[in-house]
Amino acid sequence: MRVLVIGQGGREHALCWKLAQSKDIVQLYCAPGNPGIAQSATLVPIAVDAIDDIVQFVCEEKIDFTVVGPELPLSLGIVDRLRQRGKIVFGPTKAAAQLEASKSFSKEIMRAAGVSTAESVTVMNRQQAEEELKRLGLPIVFKADGLAAGKGVFVCLDHEQAEFAIESLYSGSADETVVIEQFLEGREASLIVATDGKRVIPLVPSNDYKRVGEGDTGLNTGGMGTISPTAHLSQQQFDSAVQQIIIPVLKKMAEREMPFSGFLYAGLMIGPQGEVNCLEFNARLGDPETQVILRRLESDLLPILYQLALGDSSHIEEPRWSSDVAVCVVQAAHGYPAEVRKGDLISGIKEAESVAEVVVFQAGTAVNNNGELCSAGGRVLNVTAVGKSIDEARARAYQGCQRVVFLGQHYRRDIGGPIA
Ligand code: AMP
Ligand code: GLY
Repeated sequence: MRVLVIGQGGREHALCWKLAQSKDIVQLYCAPGNPGIAQSATLVPIAVDAIDDIVQFVCEEKIDFTVVGPELPLSLGIVDRLRQRGKIVFGPTKAAAQLEASKSFSKEIMRAAGVSTAESVTVMNRQQAEEELKRLGLPIVFKADGLAAGKGVFVCLDHEQAEFAIESLYSGSADETVVIEQFLEGREASLIVATDGKRVIPLVPSNDYKRVGEGDTGLNTGGMGTISPTAHLSQQQFDSAVQQIIIPVLKKMAEREMPFSGFLYAGLMIGPQGEVNCLEFNARLGDPETQVILRRLESDLLPILYQLALGDSSHIEEPRWSSDVAVCVVQAAHGYPAEVRKGDLISGIKEAESVAEVVVFQAGTAVNNNGELCSAGGRVLNVTAVGKSIDEARARAYQGCQRVVFLGQHYRRDIGGPIA
């Protein structure tokens, strides 16, 4: 089979690494990919939002199957466009991808489907936002309605933070749609399923370390590390989240004539009494959740995704998962998550991978004019390891981390430890 993966981050490196091991792969492409992905796939220099060029490539190169990594091409309708050309693709349509692309849509679907989630109101402009802040009080959460690459959510514990949130959200225009939400306390977990809209194949749960600093302090990021399994979610909570969050939302989407197929990611908040609320949906795999999930997947990923994309799910066997623990530590560039410096030379990846069970996925990397590997984005490398216990996996991952060198590199030393 000739397969194309769309994307260029650590998530897509993990996807390509796993798909390249499939016995059904004849040729694997990645658009645009990165230097790490080039070890598993042929890179195609097409940007993730160049939808026309991607469609043309898939048709001309007779690609049998496309897997979409990031949210941007989904929200631009890549799945609809490929299906119009009779192509098989794993991912949601533009309409279904609104579950991620619009926070107000997603909250409305959650309410209609009876899913437990934070109370919220949607406001259309700055004045309403200020009125709601006065009415609801602190703590409070503000969320930009559209895609914001992890930068549109403001959790505000004091007045200063709330004013900063309103200032940031309305800096471009006083008429922006914003979801204002009750603050929920608890531990987070990421529950991701692969689905054709009816059959639900849950992936192993994980949890993300969102903030840049140790002890979960400092600015929010796209994710500084992950572990799987996670102690934040019991088997019973996991099962009930599938039954009471995922399945009702899939039913509601089908009822609204926008059936969801692809990866559906529910961001969960588990409260002090064990109650599970859904904070948000993503219409894709998590990054860096994928990096730990796929390190634990023993089955071939390709037939699972392909048969779901065909809507032919009756033959799919439940995937086999290793009972090992997987850890991913994100090595970030100087300045991340604010202004990022690029072009720092990277060395030591091979040495890191000589530690038992360490695999380094590349995210923000490039090759410079001298042919040297250098940093090219905020989250640069994802050092992953598996082990029989969390201690073993963590020790291996950090041993790997110590062997990688680039100027300005920073990473959290507490991945796999408790979140403060
Ligand atoms: P979201 O993109 O909606 O998941 O929000 C990003 C992050 O903000 C989440 O992973 C949480 O850490 C935090 N967050 C979002 N909504 C809430 C909420 N209602 N209460 C507390 N924290 C939240
Ligand atoms: N790691 C969080 C996300 O992928 O949205």
